[in-house]
Amino acid sequence: MPPSPFLLISIYLLNFLLLSASKSLTKPIISSPNSTHISKKFERFAESTRKSIKLESLQRSQVIFSGNTPIFSENRTFQLGFFSPGQNVRWYLGIWYASIPTPTYVWVANREKPIKNLSPATAEISENGKLVIVDQDSRTILWETSNLEKAVEFKLLEQGNLVLLNDEGKIVWQSFDFPTDTWLPGMNLSIQQCLTSWKSSSDPAPGRYSVRLNPPNYGEIALVYRNGSVGNSDSNSYTYWTTGKWNGNSFDGVPEMTIPYIYKFEFGYPFTPMAVFGYTVVSLDKGAKPPLTRFIVDHTGQLKQFTWSFQTEYWNMFWSQPDNLCRVHGLCGNLGFCSGRPWNPCKCLNGFRPVNDVSWNESDFSEGCRLEGDGNCGQNEGFEEVGVVRYEGPKVVSFSSSRSKCESECLSNCSCVGLLHNARSNLCKNLYGSLFNIQNLTLDSTIDDNLYVKVQRNNTGKKNKKKMAVFIGMICGILVILSLGTINLLHSRRRKVKKRKGDEDGVFPVTNLRVFSYKELHAVTRGFSEKLGHGGFGAVFRGELSDSSLVAVKRLERPGGGEKEFRAEVCTIGNIQHVNLVRLRGFCSEDSHRLLVYDYMPNGPLSVYLRRDGQNLSWDVRFQVAVGMARGIAYLHEECRNCIIHCDIKPENILLDQDFSAKVSDFGLAKLIGRDYSRVLATMRGTWGYVAPEWISGVAITTKADVYSYGMTLLELLGGRRNVAGPPSASGGGGGECGTEKWFFPPWAARQLIAGNVTAVVDEQLGSAYDKAEAERVGLAAVWCIQDDESMRPTMGMVVKMLEGVVEVAVPPPPKLIQALVSGDSFRGVEHIVSYGDAPRSFDDNVPTSIDLKDSQPSI
Ligand SMILES: *[C@@H]1O[C@H](CO)[C@@H](O)[C@H](O)[C@H]1NC(C)=O
Ligand SMILES: *[C@@H]1O[C@H](CO)[C@@H](O)[C@H](O)[C@H]1NC(C)=O
Ligand SMILES: *[C@@H]1O[C@H](CO)[C@@H](O)[C@H](O)[C@H]1NC(C)=O
Ligand SMILES: *[C@@H]1O[C@H](CO)[C@@H](O)[C@H](O)[C@H]1NC(C)=O
Ligand SMILES: *[C@@H]1O[C@H](CO)[C@@H](O)[C@H](O)[C@H]1NC(C)=O
Ligand SMILES: *[C@@H]1O[C@H](CO)[C@@H](O)[C@H](O)[C@H]1NC(C)=O
Ligand SMILES: *[C@@H]1O[C@H](CO)[C@@H](O)[C@H](O)[C@H]1NC(C)=O
Ligand SMILES: *[C@@H]1O[C@H](CO)[C@@H](O)[C@H](O)[C@H]1NC(C)=O
Repeated sequence: MPPSPFLLISIYLLNFLLLSASKSLTKPIISSPNSTHISKKFERFAESTRKSIKLESLQRSQVIFSGNTPIFSENRTFQLGFFSPGQNVRWYLGIWYASIPTPTYVWVANREKPIKNLSPATAEISENGKLVIVDQDSRTILWETSNLEKAVEFKLLEQGNLVLLNDEGKIVWQSFDFPTDTWLPGMNLSIQQCLTSWKSSSDPAPGRYSVRLNPPNYGEIALVYRNGSVGNSDSNSYTYWTTGKWNGNSFDGVPEMTIPYIYKFEFGYPFTPMAVFGYTVVSLDKGAKPPLTRFIVDHTGQLKQFTWSFQTEYWNMFWSQPDNLCRVHGLCGNLGFCSGRPWNPCKCLNGFRPVNDVSWNESDFSEGCRLEGDGNCGQNEGFEEVGVVRYEGPKVVSFSSSRSKCESECLSNCSCVGLLHNARSNLCKNLYGSLFNIQNLTLDSTIDDNLYVKVQRNNTGKKNKKKMAVFIGMICGILVILSLGTINLLHSRRRKVKKRKGDEDGVFPVTNLRVFSYKELHAVTRGFSEKLGHGGFGAVFRGELSDSSLVAVKRLERPGGGEKEFRAEVCTIGNIQHVNLVRLRGFCSEDSHRLLVYDYMPNGPLSVYLRRDGQNLSWDVRFQVAVGMARGIAYLHEECRNCIIHCDIKPENILLDQDFSAKVSDFGLAKLIGRDYSRVLATMRGTWGYVAPEWISGVAITTKADVYSYGMTLLELLGGRRNVAGPPSASGGGGGECGTEKWFFPPWAARQLIAGNVTAVVDEQLGSAYDKAEAERVGLAAVWCIQDDESMRPTMGMVVKMLEGVVEVAVPPPPKLIQALVSGDSFRGVEHIVSYGDAPRSFDDNVPTSIDLKDSQPSI
């Protein structure tokens, strides 16, 4: 039944009344099950009011909804409504997922023209058949669709497409033709349709980054920076990443596309102006709904792919390009330094500060940094050393001279921003104009030009100015002292209250877990001065306790959850003790600080030994590490009281103690960090590094996901190398010396191992100094662990037995998903991949030790 205009008018009025009662967008007042059906209650209401209402202005147009009346797609996957991404000051008409708790906006109508005041705003089908957003107070149209044909009806489809239909039911306009930053399954990229990022995390206005089919050939997809300050022509576009050319099955630079998994990509009419590129999603489990998935170009210029996990209630990111955030053109703006940290990629160099503090704070760094000081060119200027860096953008004038000469030359010209000087060759490069993407070079770089940027020295200028400053300074000082006093008073009071509270429930269930104060840990780590590394959860520092035992202090970044949850989780972790697990010694939870104190592992993470320049581990050590890791993980899965899935097994998380015995670290943290843990998966090198395929399909994660990651780690240990060695990418990622065959090691290694050729896989550095039988067991066990189908993978307890030689290890079938990655096979359909008609029996069938996971499913 199509909605009658009268009915809609009544509903509009009802909303108007209800609106004043509540303004929360997240709690819909009227929730109609689908766009065209309206619940009985309102029908009755409509009946009673139908006759009495006459509104001139509204009679001619159909009000679809106003305020916070959302409209759902048929099966409630998506909803359409007004939303505010910030502090309810700017409102937008948009589409988001109705079925998940994290607000995720996939489309925004009026992205450039926010609604300032929600209550008088409505969405209507106007008299001339367009969808419009109207401010009822002023009767002004804020936004309208561009359809030429008249629409009489609208619908929000299950895929998230808002369509307008004419009286014959034909689509005359659809939101999929006007994408914002999100590329949903079923949506096409074409010459007219490209994606443009939001301006910042809370501003949907068009940002500087776009994804489009690359002109003039339209045979590849490119990420493009648009320079807002210079019109909108193509000459202001800068392409900073491309997929490489389409080769019929995939793009040259994205071989992982060919994995016949949940995606089906389709490129119609490539290399013509009619080109359309789209994708659909299929479900891995027959009959089940495919997972929610989306690509976006985010405000930091990366193209990212996410899949929703209902289990963890988080968007897991599985793929993003460019890999290195600092390769995004202009990310940190002029004179911004890019550190590439996911949450805080940009900073201003010493002597500089953000041009726009507010947008910098909202992670829009595009305006860059400017000199501190009064900004007068030519006064009190000097140079600040930055170091050996990469950069883009400036006009470079080279000449041979001493540094002081270069400096005086630079000081004499206001558009000179700095200079590079090479002390050995005495060559100068003076830089004029803008300086973008300043970032530290990798260690193996051969360049040794040092960058010096021009800064303003402290103002030692006019005397009266100075006097004034002293005066103001004094006043400020007094104020500061006063307020500090007050704050201190309050603080100490609060602390006292806290302390009392702490004492009450301070009886800690884990007797050997020590509670540290932040001050204590600050001292223990000597002011967090000796950084051991930076993992997905935060930085790790070396420390020394008063009893002179060494510890590793992990400072968690952005911990999720409150203090209580933190303590509960720490308690769980503290209770888990095993010779192959890193021991938690204590923790600190104070204000916003969350720190964990672990035993220090003198021989560092396993990843160090996989580097080309890394120390060689003997076979005995390797075998001991392989078994130790397996025992540690098996304990987590099967033996401890509160069993957990690690979720992030990789060489970085396997630490070696003084005897080179393996200790698994970071277990239990996935839950501790709550929703932020997916970042850990995302920061690994390459997409398919250690992540089991079921992660991407959004199905429930079991301990077998850890088994997969363990298998991948085992291959690295056996081969003495990383699994991914720079794919042969079109954009010059560098194939390395490994050859194209071995850039992604696992498929090749699996083939060799299945063929019985273990010698080819074992690290060359070992020569013949290894036990062949042990190596074979390790290799075959690894291939069993990385089977596509999780039921084919052994349990960790079984793996231990396989390695120890207690059970015979059969030859596994080849893992097909990773094989497809390098062989470039095109889509063969999912069914073909998940059914193993002729495959050997799975290990689960004859494993007496495996516990029934359905009854006691370990948590994450
Ligand atoms: C809307 O939902 C009702 C059930 O609530 C269903 O009967 C009706 O067919 C649906 N309408 C459309 C257009 O899907
Ligand atoms: C909605 O769900 C029903 C039942 O699962 C299904 O039959 C129907 O096809 C779904 N509709 C759409 C548009 O996906
Ligand atoms: C996307 O392109 C395909 C193939 O050209 C076409 O069949 C489909 O209708 C398009 N989808 C949309 C939403 O326009
Ligand atoms: C944007 O354009 C201006 C003016 O042409 C230029 O100075 C600036 O370097 C450009 N920005 C980027 C990031 O390319
Ligand atoms: C860049 O390198 C310098 C010197 O090597 C170092 O002091 C600095 O911390 C590095 N910055 C980042 C963000 O890595
Ligand atoms: C930056 O954001 C934080 C909270 O997100 C806020 O407390 C702070 O005042 C902001 N700073 C500026 C300069 O806007
Ligand atoms: C500063 O240097 C730039 C680049 O070399 C040059 O174009 C410009 O004319 C110079 N300005 C002055 C005032 O010397
Ligand atoms: C500028 O003054 C600050 C303190 O006001 C001081 O820390 C800094 O070293 C001074 N810089 C220079 C270059 O003199």
